[in-house]
Amino acid sequence: MNMEINKMAGALLGSLLGVMGLGMFSDVLYAPDHMKKAGYDLPAGEAASGKAAAAKPAAEPLPVLLAKADAKKGESLVKPCMACHDFTKPGVAKVGPPLYGVVGRPKAHVAGFAYSDPMKAKGGDWSFDELNKFIADPKKDIAGTKMAFAGEKDDGKRADIIAYLRTLADSPVPLPKAEAKPAEAAKPADGAKAAEHK
Ligand code: HEC
Repeated sequence: MNMEINKMAGALLGSLLGVMGLGMFSDVLYAPDHMKKAGYDLPAGEAASGKAAAAKPAAEPLPVLLAKADAKKGESLVKPCMACHDFTKPGVAKVGPPLYGVVGRPKAHVAGFAYSDPMKAKGGDWSFDELNKFIADPKKDIAGTKMAFAGEKDDGKRADIIAYLRTLADSPVPLPKAEAKPAEAAKPADGAKAAEHK
């Protein structure tokens, strides 16, 4: 009787040890893989979803995007805008103000159009940079704007749209200089504005 209990205990202990050994063995086998995944995948995923908006402008400054933008593509990309905006000269007010000549003109400039108070209060001209921010996310750029448009999030498409808007003028505003130096990425806004205050 005692012997049998001993045998059973021994067998149990033996298999426990075996399981523990296997566990340790597989930890050694697989741990490096787990660690690789945790180290590389997680932060990359977070950066891509969360900080993409902040990271993009530095990578492709607006003047660079505008330099390679395609106004023809922009012309078809403004189809959704046409529900609310007239692009012809001089144009008529629809839900939104007519946009012929909008690049470089003061904000909320169309006489007789009932702009929202936040739009009237914003001030300044529609520089390339200001248009870029507004079209990307109207409600974020000008909280309380009447423009019910979600925004064009794609940097390249937005540049195409702005390039097209630029052509809607008797004498189009010169494109901002695309400087090669990445350090100057934050500056073009001021440069474009300064150029407008001739
Ligand atoms: C659902 C209607 C609607 C759509 C779609 C729309 N807009 Fe507008 N937009 C408006 C309204 C309304 C205003 C006036 C906003 C205010 O006063 O707050 C406006 C204002 C503007 C202004 C400022 C004009 C000025 O005279 O100061 C620009 C630039 C503009 N829109 C560009 C665009 C572009 C480009 C698109 C397409 C990518 C677009 N909008 C799509 C309704 C619209």
